[in-house]
Amino acid sequence: MSTIDQIRAEAERRRTFAIISHPDSGKTTLTEKLLLYARAIHLAGSVKSRKAARHAVSDWMQMEQERGISVTSSVLQFEHHGKMLNLLDTPGHADFSEDTYRTLAAVDSAVMLMDHAKGVEPRTRKLFEVCRLRNIPVITFMNKLDRAGLDPLELVDDVSSSLNLKVAPINWPLGMGRDFKGVVDIKTRDILVFDAEAHGTTAVEAKRLPWSAVDDLIGPSRKAKLEEDLELIGEAGEQYDHDAFLRGELSPLFWGSAMNNFGVEVLLHFLAEHAAPPDARVLEDGVSIDVDDPRFTGFVFKIQANMNPKHRDRIVFMRVVSGEFEKDMEVTVGRSGQSLRMARPQTFMAQERNVVDAAFPGDIVGVFDTGKLRVGDTVSSKGQLKFSGIPRFAPEHFGQLRLKDPLKRKALDTGLEQLAHEGVIQVFYRSSVDRQNPYLGAVGMLQFEVLKERLKNEYSVTAVFEGLDFRYARWIQGNPEALAWLKASSSFTVVEDRNGSPVLLTDSEWGINYALQNAPKGLELFDIEPL
Ligand code: G4P
Repeated sequence: MSTIDQIRAEAERRRTFAIISHPDSGKTTLTEKLLLYARAIHLAGSVKSRKAARHAVSDWMQMEQERGISVTSSVLQFEHHGKMLNLLDTPGHADFSEDTYRTLAAVDSAVMLMDHAKGVEPRTRKLFEVCRLRNIPVITFMNKLDRAGLDPLELVDDVSSSLNLKVAPINWPLGMGRDFKGVVDIKTRDILVFDAEAHGTTAVEAKRLPWSAVDDLIGPSRKAKLEEDLELIGEAGEQYDHDAFLRGELSPLFWGSAMNNFGVEVLLHFLAEHAAPPDARVLEDGVSIDVDDPRFTGFVFKIQANMNPKHRDRIVFMRVVSGEFEKDMEVTVGRSGQSLRMARPQTFMAQERNVVDAAFPGDIVGVFDTGKLRVGDTVSSKGQLKFSGIPRFAPEHFGQLRLKDPLKRKALDTGLEQLAHEGVIQVFYRSSVDRQNPYLGAVGMLQFEVLKERLKNEYSVTAVFEGLDFRYARWIQGNPEALAWLKASSSFTVVEDRNGSPVLLTDSEWGINYALQNAPKGLELFDIEPL
């Protein structure tokens, strides 16, 4: 059992973060290289192979079944310079789902990774918006400098204006593509030299040269353009301001090439030194719980089902908010008041899962659960507490299930309700009385696969999934007359979520705009469930 001072010190050295990016920006590569530079792994290649193994949906399901619990979206914990980093994986590609958004409820900062040839892409923007909801500090990393890309100044301008975010370069590229020579530190003008030969599969430190070496590296004409750029940044650009960064108002910007191990070390140092440590969280009643509160508190942000029918266990991912988590401790679930023993808790050191004895604010603990916990639940060692919930995000894929055996209707309804509570899927009813055959919504198609598989394994229900044409869902608030107008119009579909809140479903963005322009004044539409 640690003292309050020890808990505070442990919390202060935690850095809990996620990498947000559009697919193919290099997230898997960067994750691996961060581990490599933190000496948590010794040879590049292992994380990538994990990604390859989980690529196809069917492989993924197979793997889940074989291994019992998920290996797909874990937490990587590793140390660097005396700091304890918790990197929360936010799956991309086919396995993109609502979990990805929810994971961001459990981090204190994020690395926004972009391909410098592409800049802000749709998923970068979405994930960034989720970070902004909680004012999470965001560090930007421009990747793939070994390839041709956009003009750096224009790129910074574009990121800044399209995300409405101040961007403060910490370093600046010396060329790109075949002419990529390294980066220059904006403040010291020191140069980190890129040497394609040296940056292989092991963690090498980039050579550091003084500014005077720049002529030799890039030649006089490119030096002139670089000096112009640096002057412009100095005069008109944003300067790094640590408090503004911690408030989520300004993003420090780094450049590099994850594949070539370049720029990763600088990013890792910055994360360890300057990324946000865990902070207080607010309960529903407005009371704030500090990290050094003597009570252990935490909340569930993710549940990973075990798809092996022989074991009904699920693994529940909990973020520690305050106090010390101890193995075998008794906790109370805020929602239900039930008592639970935290047996067999796991943490995730780099590639392995280990049983933990203790965890501190910022850490993620995985515990096995038989169905007593839900996404958003608060647990605490004393008292029945509730942190503000984790919002739900507008689904982008919709469908319905058709039963093969109509007698299984009841089992299907039960299954859907429970799995919706778990956060596997969102359920929308046509009205409060018509609860048969609800519409289903998901952020990623994989969620439907998981749903079908779990209904089959856990509820013995075999159902056929049929897609619906909707593409957008918006929670409706504001003027009740506007809601009545939407319901009366044959152009719109208004449904109820599982809390009875009205939701607009439409197949086009045009539909949303039309509703906003033509409904009686005061209509408000939200793509994140208002809490
Ligand atoms: P993701 O997880 O964000 O989807 O991206 P991932 O790391 O898988 O990277 C996507 C592709 O971009 C990979 O190529 C990867 O090698 C490449 N990549 C990552 N960082 C860099 C970089 O700094 N420079 C260049 N040139 N490429 C980079 P791939 O061909 O899809 O896969 P692979 O055959 O290399 O494994």
